[in-house]
Amino acid sequence: MRIISAKTLLSGIALAATYMISGTAAAQSDQVTFHKDIEPILQRSCQNCHREGGAGPMPLISYDQVAPFAGLIEYKTALRDRAGAMPPWYMEKDIGIQAYKDDPSLTDEELALISTWARSGTPKGDVSDAPEALVFNDSLKLRIQPVDATH
Ligand code: HEC
Repeated sequence: MRIISAKTLLSGIALAATYMISGTAAAQSDQVTFHKDIEPILQRSCQNCHREGGAGPMPLISYDQVAPFAGLIEYKTALRDRAGAMPPWYMEKDIGIQAYKDDPSLTDEELALISTWARSGTPKGDVSDAPEALVFNDSLKLRIQPVDATH
């Protein structure tokens, strides 16, 4: 019994490592919440575009910004590699050295989390489960744009 549980623990650790970037390993309790499950997905795959000054039409950072779009997000992400899908299917993982060094495409597990969340009334969850907010590095952009001389 001991050996089996150690083995289970080990594969659990391996799985946690695999999902560290996506942050979806925390989906342990049955309720899928914004802070615990959805926010890490948005950080990894969406916020680079969906933020102030990003390419996306609306920011997807805070709960209040994201919740009204839950249904549309479920729809867009489920399109996967078809036209109109989010994240855009043509974004290969090695395009855009800075922003896309991690593969932005969503796993089946992530799609399922989004779907469950959208269909269960978009629970907000506990803010203590939230990942740290991302700080976007716009230094590339700053370099090619004139810097405010009054600075
Ligand atoms: C490469 C930049 C980029 C990424 C990454 C990206 N989006 Fe978008 N998104 C856009 C752009 C540009 C539009 C507007 C054009 C369109 O609808 O295709 C858009 C539109 C949308 C819309 C439709 C908004 C509307 O009012 O019609 C939703 C919903 C959306 N994105 C959700 C997401 C989600 C969720 C993710 C992450 C899983 C994501 N996007 C990742 C750029 C991006």
